[in-house]
Order: sequence, then structure tokens, then C-alpha cells
Amino acid sequence: MSCFPVRLQEVRQAVSVCLRSLTVWAVRLTGSKYGCGGGGCGACTVMLSRYDPQTKHIHHFSVNACLMPVCQLHGAAVTTVEGIGSTKTRLHPVQERIAKAHGSQCGFCTPGMVMSIYTLLRNKPQPTMEEIRETLGGNLCRCTGYRPIIEGYRTFCEVISSFISGFHHTSGKEKLLPLDPTQELIFPPELIRMAESEERATQTFRGERMTWISPISLDELLQLKSQHPQAPVVMGNTNLGLDIKFKGVIHPIIISGFRVRELFEVTEKPEGVCIGAGSSLSTVRSVLEKCVCSLPAEHTQTLAALLEQLSHVAGEQIRNVATLGGNIASAYPNSDLNPVLAAGRCSVVLQSREGKREVPLDKDFFVGFGKTVLKPDEIVLSVFIPVSRKGEVVRAFRHAPRKENALATVNAGLRVWFEEGSNVVKEMSVYYGGVGPCTVSAERTVQQVIGRPWNEATLSDAYRALVDEVTLGASAPGGKVMFRRSLTLSLLFRFYLHVLQHLKDTVRPPSTSTTHTNTPPPRQCYCSDVPSGQSEQDPVGRAVQHQAALSHATGEAVYCDDFPRTQGELFLSVVTSARAHARITHIDVSRALSMPGVVDVFTADDIPGKKFRSFTGIDEEILAQGEVTCVGQMVCAVVADTKPHAKLASAAVKVHYEDLPDRIFTVEVAVEKRSFFLPQREIQRGDVTKAFQEADHVYEGEIRLGGQEHFYMETQSMLVIPLGEEKEMKVYASTQHPTMVQEAVAETLGIPSSRVSCHVKRIGGAFGGKVTKTSILASITALAAWRSERPVRCVLDRGEDMLITGARHPVLGKYKVGFMSDGRITAADVRYYANAGHTPDESVLVIEKILLHMDNAYNILNLCSQSAACKTNLPSNTAFRGFGVPQTLMVIENMVNDVAMVLGRPAEEIREKNMYKETSLTHYKMEFDPENLLRCWEECKERSELDRRRLDVARFNQQNRWKKRGIAVIPIKYGIGFAEGFLNQAAALVHIYKDGSVLVSHGGTEMGQGIHTKVQQVASRELDVPLSMIHISETSTSSVPNTCPSAASFGTDANGMAVKDACQTLYKRLEPIRKQDPNGTWQSWVAKAFLERISLSATGFYRGHDLYMDWVKQEGRPYAYFTYAACCSEVELDCLTGEYRTVRTDLVADIGQSINPSIDIGQIEGAFMQGLGLYTMEELKFSPSGVLYTRGPGQYKIPAVCDVPLQFNVYLLSGSHNPHAIYSSKGIGEPTLFLGSSVFFALKEAVAAARSDAGLSGPFTLHSPATPERACVACSTCFTQMIPQAETETTQPWALELP
Ligand SMILES: Cc1cc2nc3c(=O)[nH]c(=O)nc-3n(C[C@H](O)[C@H](O)[C@H](O)COP(=O)(O)OP(=O)(O)OC[C@H]3O[C@@H](n4cnc5c(N)ncnc54)[C@H](O)[C@@H]3O)c2cc1C
Ligand code: FES
Ligand code: FES
Repeated sequence: MSCFPVRLQEVRQAVSVCLRSLTVWAVRLTGSKYGCGGGGCGACTVMLSRYDPQTKHIHHFSVNACLMPVCQLHGAAVTTVEGIGSTKTRLHPVQERIAKAHGSQCGFCTPGMVMSIYTLLRNKPQPTMEEIRETLGGNLCRCTGYRPIIEGYRTFCEVISSFISGFHHTSGKEKLLPLDPTQELIFPPELIRMAESEERATQTFRGERMTWISPISLDELLQLKSQHPQAPVVMGNTNLGLDIKFKGVIHPIIISGFRVRELFEVTEKPEGVCIGAGSSLSTVRSVLEKCVCSLPAEHTQTLAALLEQLSHVAGEQIRNVATLGGNIASAYPNSDLNPVLAAGRCSVVLQSREGKREVPLDKDFFVGFGKTVLKPDEIVLSVFIPVSRKGEVVRAFRHAPRKENALATVNAGLRVWFEEGSNVVKEMSVYYGGVGPCTVSAERTVQQVIGRPWNEATLSDAYRALVDEVTLGASAPGGKVMFRRSLTLSLLFRFYLHVLQHLKDTVRPPSTSTTHTNTPPPRQCYCSDVPSGQSEQDPVGRAVQHQAALSHATGEAVYCDDFPRTQGELFLSVVTSARAHARITHIDVSRALSMPGVVDVFTADDIPGKKFRSFTGIDEEILAQGEVTCVGQMVCAVVADTKPHAKLASAAVKVHYEDLPDRIFTVEVAVEKRSFFLPQREIQRGDVTKAFQEADHVYEGEIRLGGQEHFYMETQSMLVIPLGEEKEMKVYASTQHPTMVQEAVAETLGIPSSRVSCHVKRIGGAFGGKVTKTSILASITALAAWRSERPVRCVLDRGEDMLITGARHPVLGKYKVGFMSDGRITAADVRYYANAGHTPDESVLVIEKILLHMDNAYNILNLCSQSAACKTNLPSNTAFRGFGVPQTLMVIENMVNDVAMVLGRPAEEIREKNMYKETSLTHYKMEFDPENLLRCWEECKERSELDRRRLDVARFNQQNRWKKRGIAVIPIKYGIGFAEGFLNQAAALVHIYKDGSVLVSHGGTEMGQGIHTKVQQVASRELDVPLSMIHISETSTSSVPNTCPSAASFGTDANGMAVKDACQTLYKRLEPIRKQDPNGTWQSWVAKAFLERISLSATGFYRGHDLYMDWVKQEGRPYAYFTYAACCSEVELDCLTGEYRTVRTDLVADIGQSINPSIDIGQIEGAFMQGLGLYTMEELKFSPSGVLYTRGPGQYKIPAVCDVPLQFNVYLLSGSHNPHAIYSSKGIGEPTLFLGSSVFFALKEAVAAARSDAGLSGPFTLHSPATPERACVACSTCFTQMIPQAETETTQPWALELP
């Protein structure tokens, strides 16, 4: 049952529980996933349906199950992904299309995507493309890059539903299941009967720590509020729920206004519209849309401005439940609605038992952070939005770190009213959000304008007044002080332009918008023909769908936390350090131990085996012993019967500290204090000193690169089951390296590895973050299981995961470059400082790879370089897709870009001039042929029509002052394989069963990269059996021992070869039987082989390449081969806000003969988007005392649907062969991540154009990520220049400046 009605009895048992917990633990539906728990990722999306007995209408809407209180659900039907279709019965078209469009990789986000679109289709079976995009705005995916998801769902659109554009490289001829609305699940009739006949009475639900009261009348609600003035009124729970979940706020009583009809009433009057405070933001949107359509245009100014804001508030799932009254009463400093409501002369009706009062929503309404004039016993009953008057103009603006589903950095509501027939201002209101503890009114600024004509002189005075009036201290919470202040000016300027246009002034407003409609559909091109003569059955080289795509789309795919709870299972929660550097004086666990459900609390002292893990020869403590060296370091663990009990108890553990001096956070301080993990590395080639002397120009620069959170959608998860005999432990973990987990558990417990088995079914994304960190967490979880002799589960919350597990290394790159006037680079001296955090992890290997890739595509004959892993008091950074390469390439490309800027030449000309041109030696003396690199480069320039578009960009920039475009082409040469030769080996085990079915096991883990699909293709070819006969169940150290990590883009290369070896052995064994009976079938041969006692099981092994790097001689062959690519991106930048849009991206990649083009293109697109995030969006922020601020999707923005390039074309280089990997293919998991930097460099070019208008030329510093803040400040517009520099020397900034 997966469309289930919710009745009182279910609710009674689960008062303080959210819907997701109910579906998982009570109803055992694990399809909806936990990605963040805070409404920010959409992984838990389900559809709610309610019957309205008054209108007799059934409403369907999507919600985030993680924020939906069960108590709010009485009478609703919940439909989860399992309810709409299954692989066992019938698929739903929504499930089928995402699978066929290759829209799932790890699959963890897929059920959420499916349910968002399913709900849309229930309400509108033929939606527009815009509606599809908007619907997906609340769903994040870290793997796919979204393009295939959008393409898959494009097929539901009216205009193109007959043209199946998304499937042209899969199964174009295949029929898609039609969408038949008559076949949808019906709303449970019992709920209709219940709603019609139910005696409406107050419901009270009593839980362990909270009582939930749900009255049915306004009187009752007001009475309850007067009896319990401290009890909050809950509506959508999107604010209250976060406080309870993440801030530990306890409300013994909660009053729900959800069933009080008066809160939902909407009344339209000639003077305006009165909307019940309980109306959801989606309802408000529909009401306003209706009013805007029906009213004369001059009356709709405020309504339209509110509509504009509403379309950007959160995602659809949040808008469907979050209420207007809740938004106002929450009084967020950056509420999008409050500035518009205030500017638009709106008012609220407040009511208590004492009576009603109507209060203007103005500057006096918001009195502080989260505070309004509401008295404790009052509620917001309704909101009145007046129609605008003749001559009145109202607009709303917002700037957010991401265009969709992100709280605004700064927003504004502005209104001006002119004297009739003139441009003289009679009245004006200017309200801002995001620049103070609450919505701020710029009154003194307004006074500069009133009574004066609307012209530049008036506005100039207003800007000056605004700079003085709306200020922020240098350490203001949220940081970005200068940017936020400049936004107040530029948003006012935008309003000025808008009003000018409105007044139809003769002044020609500069272009402020560029339409991007009618962009052609993206292309994914490759030579689709497999060699002539390849059998139809042979799947190698074909775009085979991900083997688990349908399981992903139906919610049947099992992830670690989906394993059913076992008898007596416990939950583990870790206690982490609150100090960056301190001695632990005492750990007081007494209170925690006495709390309900708590079974155990343990520290490092309780570890029976090794208390540390060794990485690159340096020890790292599993749990802190005596001293902590970063905030977030694991100190001890609490084990309890349920997750809530374990969490509560871990919060009750009191760790006492004595602070130690010398905290180090930045690489500069680490260098000063010589704080490094050794060895440092260096490499030298040619005569650098002489080359610098002979160069025409020498330039020095630097770039700082921020870190990057993995943000795998499935957080770190594991389940350890003691088998109760011979110390055997079974570990289920979401890890890329099962053998490391096995060894870690064995060493921690002091038992042989043979007693521990590690099993990985699949991983919900990893990107390098599930190797070392997972093994430490698994050791702790195993210790809990060992001590309690019961199964123990540990699933980190998103915030914990981000705090504990580290990220990509932030890097400071400093360079000195010598070059000739014709652009030839003759010398380079580059220093890299990586912020490793407090433990070594794999940092030394990362800085090695940094040096090995520093040449990228360029043949610089004289270079020297050093890299260091700086030891700091921040969480320990770790492997992340690219393993240092995205950092080093950024430094080098920035250097090359600076050369171009010094010489005033197009960057691609300098790049081309310095590229490897013929078979050459790298700086570590590895020979390679760059032919395919050059082919990618040329093809990319051609496909992207670079020459023509460069002229277009220049023309555009000449014609526009506040919008600028930039275009950049970036090449990449990426080494594949592990420089540590032994890590390139792989093994496999293949069983053929008597019915002919084949079970393949290998050492690679499936984390979305499609390794199992490719390996199945290999086995199918080698055994000459259909793909459908090959099954891969899991990765297990019991089946295949001593595995290497699935990393370095080498998984298929190694494991594919091992499987090939095993299959060839089996094929040979069957040969005599085949010869005896050439007309037999596979099944008959297998059956015969069994009777003839031929073993139907074989292992396979791949030794791997003999790769090495000799750091003493500074030479080696650390890579098996290179993957090449080139990418051209064009962006359009709004210089006033720093917002940008990637207009078009063309990417050409050389991946040899692809085993599976659709999977490879998926990797290319996903990596590109991750790179786009790294270089332009994603920012980890730490407090000055080393506390990570950014602990969830609310604060940390990864790319969403809105960030996909408007046109995104991917081409696979044809005619490329690679003798070094299986079937002539190439590894592609990591390389194209760096190509996201083409967007960075295009942005930098757009910024340069803006600077040129401001009279600035030559190289300038733009650190990575080039966030809107950085891009806007670098544009150096008149608005940023008006802001006085913050006094950072005397005041501590809000956040650390890393690396
Ligand atoms: C992921 C996410 C993204 C978001 N993005 C945005 C965004 O982009 N822009 C934006 O403006 N907001 C955003 N929000 C905030 C969201 O709009 C507010 O949380 C929401 O409007 C609050 O309404 P609610 O019904 O959920 O309030 P609840 O959480 O139910 O209540 C919030 C507070 O308001 C009080 N309250 C609620 N209703 C009343 C009433 N009628 N009378 C008196 N007190 C009342 C409650 O007692 C409580 O103190 C986002 C929230 C989330 C979770
Ligand atoms: S888990 Fe619910 S939105 Fe992220
Ligand atoms: S497929 Fe979307 S998160 Fe992995």
C-alpha cells in the first residue's frame, strides 16, 4: 500500500514525527529519501491529496515529507513513489521516461523528481516546458546535471509530446508508455466519506515531549492562544519545523491553525484583496494571478510585484504548504514578501480574544530579528493587499545566491506615486530585506525623493542618502557586507530604470534583459554506429540504460538506510568537538546515560584494537584522545534504541575543554608557522632563472580557490550486524572502498579481516567523499555493535555530514610567469598551498596530483613548482572528484588568462600558442601524443562557432552598459589511473547457474557512474549471452577480496578487465561443449557443462598498468593514458547584481570508443555541472573560530535546474582509439569537472568588459568561486564604488577568508 490514507490512530502514535519517518518506519515505504531533512533538496517529495467537502474538489499537491508533521495529515491521502508504479506490476510513464532518458545515475534524487512531476501531471496532464522546469526547482540532483531529466519530461509537453527529443540516442524507435489520466490512483473513498460526515471536533495528540492541539474554530484557536500564549500556531511548519529539528527548540504545546476555516478565506473587494493568513503561498499565487488578469492594469502594481516574488520563493513543495501568515509572522530578515507588502501599503488583521485590530505592515510592524508587534495571544487572521492607484508604480527585486530555491541575499519592495500628469514624486516607499535583523525601511532616502522629479539628479541624492542610511557593520551576520550594501543601491537603480520606462520618458533605458527563448534543444552527439558486423546482441558501444534506472524511478532501489530494521537494532550518534583547538579536560556522560533508550556511550579509551587509522603513513585518531584539533572532530559516540533518543542523548554529553593557543585556519598562517603534513613536493624542468631573465614580460599573480562539499545526496550511512559467532561482523556501508571499511573495522576491533565482511548494494553519490571518512565512521559503528552485541545503524544528518566529513581542499595558487610578446610562455614558477585541515587523510597524494597536472595542455619548457599540504584547525579535507586537478588547472588557466590580459589578446590565442603540438614529454618525462587534444580543441571551436560568437559578444558588450557577455574555451588533458601502481589491480568472480543466468561480482562499487551497467555489457559480450542474463547484486569483500577504491576514473578500466578475464575463462571452458553441439543454446551448454563436471565459476584478475612516480628523480609514468576534452561556454552577466546565466556550452570529449555513450555523456554533463558549482557558486563558510556555517542546502548552494546552460551540447570525438583500456575506451568520471571553469573564465571576460566601461584595464583578481558577490564587486560599477571599505582591521569579519 503506497497511496495510503492517514487516520487518527496513525497520527496518535507519531505526534512529533514527520511524514517521512512515518512512511519509512511505520508503513515501510522507503521510496522517498532523506537528503537534508529541511525542505531544501526535494528527495523526500510525496504527493498529498485532500478532499474539500465544500467544493467537492480533490486537491493534489507535492510536499517535502521531511517537514510535514504527521499531525497535520489527518484525512489526507499520501502517495509515495511506490504507489504510482512498479517494476513488478506496471510502470508509470513518469517513472519510465526518466529512466529511458538516462535521467538517473545514483538514483537517490530520482523518486523525488518522479513525484514532483507526477503531481504536476495529476493537476495538468500536458504541462508547458516552463511548468516542468519550475516544478523541478525544488529538487536537487548532484549527479546528472539535470539535462536528461528535463529532456525526459519534455516529452509530456503539449507541443512536443509527439517528438521524443530526449531519447534520440537510446531507443528512438521504442514506444513510450502513454500518459492516461483515467488510469491514475483514485482518492480513497473512505476519506471522502470521512470528510463529508466527520463530526468536526478539536483533536489533541499527546507525544513524549509535545502536545499538538488542532482546533476547528477561530474562537477555539483564540481561546487556546490566550491559555497558552507561548505555544506557537503552526501552519506549514516550514519555519517552526526547522527550529524544532535543527535548533533543538522545544514547544511543549503546539496549536495548529490548519483546520480553522477563517484563516483560509479570500475576499475580493474593489479596494483590494483580503487573503486568509493560512493560505499557502501557492494559493496566494493563484489568487493574485486571477486578480491580475481581471483588474485594470493600473490597479495591479502591488499584486504583480508580489507575484514576481512568489515565483522565486523556495521550491514548489515548500510553496504548497508555507503560508502567507507564517511568512509574515516569522519576520525573517530576508523574507521576500515582507518588503513588498510593506512598500505596497498592505495591512494585517490581528486577532485575539480581546478583539481584532488592523495594523499596517510597515516599518513599525517588524521590531527585530524574528519579532513583530504581535502580542503573545494574537494571531494573524488575514492580510489585506490594496489595489494600486493611478500613477503608482510598485516593483519587487531580489538577489539570491541561486536563481531558484534560495533565500535572498538582498531583496527590495519599492513603490512610487506620482502627482497626476507629472513625474514629480508624491509618495514613495523603499523597503529592503537582507540588510538588517528585520525588514528595513529607507525613510531618509525616501525624503530625498519626495516632491522632486524622477530624474538622475534626484536619484543621485537618494543613493548618497541610502549609503548613509542602510549600513552594515564589517562583521554583520551573513557577511558579503560591501556586496549587500551595493545591492541596495543597484536595486534602487533598477527601480529607477523601470519607473522611467513606465513614465515613457524619452531617456533610453539601457537594456536590462535579454530574452533566451527559442534556444534550440541540446545535442548529445557521438558516432552512434557500432562497428559493422557487431552482433545485435552485443551491447558494447551501445547507449544501454543504467541497469538500475527503473529501480531508481520506482523507489525499489535499496540504499543502506533502506535495509529493514532488525530485531533489537540500535542507533548511533556521534558527539563532536565544539572547539578548534583544545584539551579535553572531562567528558561527562552521566546525563546522557540516564536518558530514555540510551544503551551505551563510549570514547577512544573503549576501543579494543587500533585507536587510529593510518593514511599515507600518518596516524589519524578515530575518536579524539585528550586533545581536539578542529570543530566537528568526533569525540565520543552515543548508542540508543532510536535515532531521536540517540540524538537527544548526544546533545546531553558535556565535553569540558581548556582552549589551547595557536589555532591555525588559513594557509598563510600555516606557512608562517610551518604547519604542514610532510612530505612537500616539488618539480622542476628546464632553466627557469634564465628563462625569466630572457622573457619579454614577467607577471606575478595569485588565485584562491574555495573548497567544495561533496553533497552526495545520500549522507554517510552504515549498518553493522554482529553475527554472534566467532566475532563475525557484517557491515553494510555506503562506501567507495569496501576493503578499507573491512580493514578499518577489523583493526579497530582487533580481529582478523576474515571475520568482517563489507557489503555495498549501491551508493547514493560519493564523489570521493566515501573512502577514508566512511571507514572511520564504520569503525565507530562497528565498535558500538561489538560492545552491545546488537545491530547498530549510523546515518548522519546532512548538517553532521557536512561538519564532520571534510570537503575538497581549498587552495592558494601563487604564480610568476615569463612570456614573450607573441604570447609564448617561456617560464613559470607556481606554488600551491592546499588547506588540508587537521588530519592528513589523502592530502599528500592530492598535492602530488596537483603538481603532476600543472601543465594541463601546455608545453612550458621551463617551470618549477612546489606544493604543500597545510595542517590547519579545520575539518580534514579529503578526496573529491578530480583529486586536486580542478584546483591546479584553475591556477594554471588563470595564469594563462593573465598573460592574455597583459598582452590584450584573446585568451584562446594564448592557450593555443602554448599547447603541446606533437608527441612530447610532460614535465615529469612521460611521453604522449596530443593529437586528440588538438582535435578536441579544434572541433570545439568549430562546433561552438567561436569566431562568429566572439564578434557577437563584442557587439553586445558595446551596446549594453549593465549586462555583459563573455566567452571562453578551455582544454583539458587528464591522466587516468593511480600513480601508486598497486591500486590499479582488480578482481572479479563470475558464476554461471544451471539455468544459464550469470551472477557477476567485481570490486567496483556502483555510485551512479554506471560501472555495473558497463560491466554487464562486458560480461554479455565475452560470454556471448544477452544482457538480460547478467546480474550484479552487490559489491562484497566476501565475493571479491582486497578491492581497490572505485576512484580515479579507473573503475571500469580495471574491473571491466577483471570481469573480461573471468568470462573468457568460462567461455573457454564451455568451448568443447559448444563444439559438440553447435546448434545448442546457452542454457543447454550450461546444463551439459554441469553434468560433465565443468566448473561454472571463475575468478578474473587484472594486474593493471605498472604506474609509478619517482619524486626524487622527478619522473615517472603515473598515468595509463590521458583523456582529453575542450569546452566553450558563453555567459551573460548582470553587472548590477553579479547574477549570470550560462547561455551556451559546447563540449567535445575524447573518450576513445565509449562502452556506453549515454552513461559517459551522463558523467560528462554531471561533472561539468559540479565544476560549474565549484567555480561559480559553492561556498563553504567558516566562522572566525572555525565553525562551519554552511551545513545544509539552505546555506550551501549546489547547481539546480535553473543553472543548466540554456543550450548544452556534448560531442564525443569520433575515431579515437585507446590501446590502454578495455575495448579502446577511456575513463571519464572526473576529467570534465574542470571544464566547468569555462563558465568562470567566460564570467571573468564579462567582468573585464564591465571594468573596461569603468576605465579599468589589464589583469585583475577574481577568486574562485566567482560568486555573484565577487563578480559584482570586480565589475567596479559606480554603485560598488560608492560603498566605503569596511573597517576590517578593527572588526572581525563574519567569516574566515579561506584557503
Ligand atoms: C527550504 C525553504 C526555502 C525557503 N525559501 C524562502 C524564500 O525564498 N523566500 C521567503 O520569503 N521565504 C522562504 N522560506 C521561508 C518560508 O516562506 C516560511 O518558512 C513560511 O512562509 C512560513 O510559513 P509556515 O506556514 O510554514 O509557518 P510555520 O512554520 O508554521 O510558522 C512559523 C512561525 O509563524 C507563526 N505563525 C504562523 N502562522 C501564524 C498566524 N496565522 N498567526 C500568528 N503566528 C503565526 C508560528 O507560530 C511560527 O512562529 C523558505 C523556507 C524553507 C524551509
Ligand atoms: S529530505 Fe526533505 S527536502 Fe531534503
Ligand atoms: S542521480 Fe540525482 S543525486 Fe544521484
